[in-house]
Amino acid sequence: MKILITGGAGYIGSHTLIELNKAGYDFIVYDNLSNSTDESLKRVEKIINKSIIFEKGDIRDKDALQAVFKKYEIESVIHFAGLKAVGESVAKPLEYYDNNVVGTIRLLEVMKENNCKKIVFSSSATVYGDPATTPIKENFPVGGTTNPYGTSKYMIERILEDVQIGDNEFKIVILRYFNPVGAHESGTIGEDPNGIPNNLMPFISQTAVGKREFLSVFGGDYDTADGTGVRDYIHVVDLADGHVKAINYINAQTQNMEPLIVNLGTGNGYSVIDMVKAFEKASGKKVAYKIVDRRPGDIAKCFADPSFAKEVLGWEANRTIEQMCKDSWNWQSNNPNGYKN
Ligand code: UD1
Repeated sequence: MKILITGGAGYIGSHTLIELNKAGYDFIVYDNLSNSTDESLKRVEKIINKSIIFEKGDIRDKDALQAVFKKYEIESVIHFAGLKAVGESVAKPLEYYDNNVVGTIRLLEVMKENNCKKIVFSSSATVYGDPATTPIKENFPVGGTTNPYGTSKYMIERILEDVQIGDNEFKIVILRYFNPVGAHESGTIGEDPNGIPNNLMPFISQTAVGKREFLSVFGGDYDTADGTGVRDYIHVVDLADGHVKAINYINAQTQNMEPLIVNLGTGNGYSVIDMVKAFEKASGKKVAYKIVDRRPGDIAKCFADPSFAKEVLGWEANRTIEQMCKDSWNWQSNNPNGYKN
């Protein structure tokens, strides 16, 4: 029995393969490589010293998905595949809803037709919009999203909840990620954004490696200790381990269960300037920055209350901000052009 990993060649997916392998799980990667490369899989193969079954395909392609379900015995799905650039989603809303929402519907249809009813879904803290208070708990209001990317995550959460009501044999875990950063300790796999990075950590590391002149810090007048935005950065290997715990949880359920919604964060909030300083220390490089206007849609503070994850999944993040910066730098400095070396 295998786990189907959609989007398994991507940043979080590739790191999760390693943790799943460690835990003794077998898997198949399904990815259309639209924002990734199979080079990541080749590197994971080296790390785990095992070959990976890879089927290239799109989650919207029902025939291709059916063929995969017929070819292999798939017991469960970890569903990472999706588009994820906030700015792009504003310009191309239909592409985002088609890929993320329609793609998930196709996947769920094929799962149901093949009697595969266990799924772990990659959601995001973005579904909380601008929270009234922090730390954020799972029962905080959701849906106040400010862009099609965030709305697509929220819509998929709602769809999953309705799918479970319609067929209560479905066992669903929805993981709401905070801000994934860092890389595998080998420095051979990591985040490889296309073009100019939107997210903070790849922008910092590309500045440190000399690919960007300076970091624009979006806003210095937020209601935070140093005026810059505060986020809950989580090491991608901790995040990957959260997926193993989610699959363990699903497999341990002998009764029907309502969808389980879990925050994956550390509970610590760090500002943009905190991250710059920590990165400079870990890399020994200067990260030049300028404070500029706020980025539209950004919020002052976002960090998790991760206590439910510990209680229900027995999971907690344990890698420090130093480790996150050290591993991001190790990946970036060894692979200045990402996988295109
Ligand atoms: C963003 C997305 C969120 C998505 C997440 C994925 C927005 C509004 N939200 O979250 O939906 O799930 O990425 O990881 O884009 N910053 C700078 N300069 C930069 C880049 C970022 O100062 O060049 C600041 C931001 O203002 C923010 C922090 O760094 O305070 C983190 O930004 P980012 O990495 O883009 O993540 P989020 O905005 O939290």
